[in-house]
Amino acid sequence: MKKILVTGGAGYIGSHTCIELLNSGYEVVIVDDFTNSVMEPVKRLEKLAGKKVSFHEVNLLDKEALDAVFKKEGKIDAVIHFAALKAVGESVAQPLMYYKNNISGSLALFEVMRDNDVKNVVFSSSATVYGDPEETPIKEDATVHATNPYGHTKSMMEQILMDTSHALGWGVILLRYFNPVGAHESGEIGEDPEYPNNLLPFVSQVAAGIREHVTIFGDDYDTIDGTGVRDYIHVVDLARAHVKSIERLTGFDKGTLIYNIGTGTGYSVQQMVETFRQVSGKEIKVVIGPRRPGDIAECTADATLANKELGWSAEYGLQEMIESAWKWQSKYPNGYRGAK
Ligand code: NAD
Ligand code: WQD
Repeated sequence: MKKILVTGGAGYIGSHTCIELLNSGYEVVIVDDFTNSVMEPVKRLEKLAGKKVSFHEVNLLDKEALDAVFKKEGKIDAVIHFAALKAVGESVAQPLMYYKNNISGSLALFEVMRDNDVKNVVFSSSATVYGDPEETPIKEDATVHATNPYGHTKSMMEQILMDTSHALGWGVILLRYFNPVGAHESGEIGEDPEYPNNLLPFVSQVAAGIREHVTIFGDDYDTIDGTGVRDYIHVVDLARAHVKSIERLTGFDKGTLIYNIGTGTGYSVQQMVETFRQVSGKEIKVVIGPRRPGDIAECTADATLANKELGWSAEYGLQEMIESAWKWQSKYPNGYRGAK
């Protein structure tokens, strides 16, 4: 494997993955339409890695333009497919937009891959496919039962890829991410939501004085302190899982492999806020609110399979996750806003 095409490479997880790919000696081609990103992280990741990527501003739904990218780039050995819309609440309100972008966009990509004889793909799936799990830590063979349109797009994409792998002899890796957080150690790239949907960017903005308080969505769950427990994973560890997946696909003939990507350790909302207070030295006001509809009490990964078969394991703990998030937040309080 030499040349990797990364869809959504200007986004949060994609930009961190491109650095790790470049650092591991791969050539990187990015396709992104800036639906939820800007060019700035691409410039910064090139600077951090000391190498260039080949960038194409293309929407996956524009099949002709996408095909032209594949033709222009020559032999692409594998695709890492990040590009998708990802806000659960928005997907409930606008399911058609989610199905169109995430399913139709992916189908266009896979048709172009087929037409250009590219047979390896790593796909960004999510712990959300497990819905409300019967037991935690969750193993990959647990029932898949997504509970919202965003989650349905992920489980549908998994099925589409399994069927395609079977029919066309593709090598497919489905990575089910748990809760990605944190930023590059340089503080130069990170997560950049204008209005955060997820806990950690919200807490980070409260610590920075951008928002007044964080609402804790329920403190009456059956967990260590009543607040929701999740398996947070450092985005750089997650990025490295993609490099390991590309290595795993090298010489892997055909079939679908599925891996949970998490640390295996869960932290509650209260524990997250308290660690953020310690790391930042800032006051972080919390207000206890009602449960958020659709939330579950606890979700942690059994990542034994990824440890064994990918040779991957998480290197960073909670302290590093929050330190890096705070470094990025303090260095760039407005994220990439203002940058193009
Ligand atoms: P992100 O929004 O930061 O990155 C996605 C990128 O894809 C953006 O740069 C966006 O502009 C691009 N994109 C979207 N639709 C496109 C299209 N039709 N054509 C071209 N580009 C398009 O999101 P992220 O957090 O980096 O997530 C990456 C992937 O990981 C997504 O598939 C997401 O569903 C999945 N995932 C994310 C999380 C999380 O909490 N961040 C958890 C599990 C899975
Ligand atoms: C974490 C915990 C909340 C915000 C979501 C998606 C999932 C995946 C990752 C993409 C929960 C609590 C949150 C706040 C809070 N994304 N919380 N106050 O819901 O585990 O997962 O992102 O694939 O699909 O569902 O992540 O960060 O939103 O919430 O109390 O302001 O923090 O209730 O317990 P979640 P999250």
